[in-house]
Amino acid sequence: MIYDKILKPVFFKFDPEVMHHFFNKVGEGLGRFGFTRSIVRMSCGPVDDEILHTEIAGIKLNNPLGVGAGFDKEGRIIHTLDAIGFGFAEVGTITGQASPGNKKPRLWRLPEDRALAVNYGLLSTGADAVKERFANYKRNSPWPIPVGISVAKSNLPNLSGQTGLDDLLSAYQKLEQFASYVTVNVSCPNTGDGEQYCKDPVMYRELLSMLDAKHPTKPVFFKLSPDLSQDRYLEIMHDTDRYAWAKGFITSNLTHDRTNLKSKYLSQATSGGVSGPHLRKLSDEVLAFMYRNGHSRYQFIGLGGIDSVEDAYRKIRLGASAVQLVTSLIYNGPLWPSQLLRELASRLREDGFKNIKEAVGVDNL
Ligand SMILES: Cc1cc2nc3c(=O)[nH]c(=O)nc-3n(C[C@H](O)[C@H](O)[C@H](O)COP(=O)(O)O)c2cc1C
Repeated sequence: MIYDKILKPVFFKFDPEVMHHFFNKVGEGLGRFGFTRSIVRMSCGPVDDEILHTEIAGIKLNNPLGVGAGFDKEGRIIHTLDAIGFGFAEVGTITGQASPGNKKPRLWRLPEDRALAVNYGLLSTGADAVKERFANYKRNSPWPIPVGISVAKSNLPNLSGQTGLDDLLSAYQKLEQFASYVTVNVSCPNTGDGEQYCKDPVMYRELLSMLDAKHPTKPVFFKLSPDLSQDRYLEIMHDTDRYAWAKGFITSNLTHDRTNLKSKYLSQATSGGVSGPHLRKLSDEVLAFMYRNGHSRYQFIGLGGIDSVEDAYRKIRLGASAVQLVTSLIYNGPLWPSQLLRELASRLREDGFKNIKEAVGVDNL
């Protein structure tokens, strides 16, 4: 109530990118000290319920809800994300070289659609800066929850072909050591060639083989676009199959599709991908299709448009072993993860499951 009626109307008066930065600063401050973390924890009431204990790619999770890439781009607020109740966090996307991203404005709220239009263009301080900071954090205190690190090729005009691949792999090599799992973001919709690796079979195969040559030691997930053809999803799963370190897919990233959006601000958001409920059906369809065709080999993280407990539960029943959200955290506030998880635990019990793992894929076999 306080967030919805008082804080959000104030926050929403300011530029969305300024507010994103502000929340990261506040989150970083709150996560720094034990007593501020305790205050956040007491205010948000994180859920610890055995029915939600699960695992993905061998990583134990206290609950299946993670924050998706893009909220904590630089891995600065992991302790606060833990305190508000997330079971894991995906940080990034972090690129090899630093990149200033696209020209501002590059983030828009679409309130009538409870969505965002995102055109950051893989803004990142680069893998070296993040590595240095993470090395310090890890010495002082290990992550409180499992952390996925999302990496991609920098959005710099001089990087393409082999130099682009080298850039992505350098981010991978520098940051893998700090991650519980690594996500290779092959689907950024707002860079010049951010989607090339998921769209172009030759580039994707080249990426797989070069990654293999680095001998990955952590589970690797690939984050896919929701806008590909079914044949392409099948081809991606087929090409990835031979690499044992490749454990699964995150479905999905933002969509290019803008049909039926109602927001009056849409005309200002001239480029960029769209998040939120508008994306839900599309990302659910991709998840369902990939799970049906690949569940014996891969695990899936469901992401895109989760704005209610039904949305999260549906993704799990369609085949997601874990789920992530970004946009609904902004629209619903910091109590939202605990509320969602409490309701999810009740729904699982009502439906007779002893543990969430039993629900994965039940609507899709
Ligand atoms: C502000 C913002 C920044 C994002 N940045 C990234 C990013 O850097 N890397 C990435 O893989 N996805 C990024 N995404 C996409 C989200 O991780 C997610 O795939 C998408 O927003 C759909 O989920 P949602 O509907 O729960 O927001 C970003 C999304 C938003 C809203």
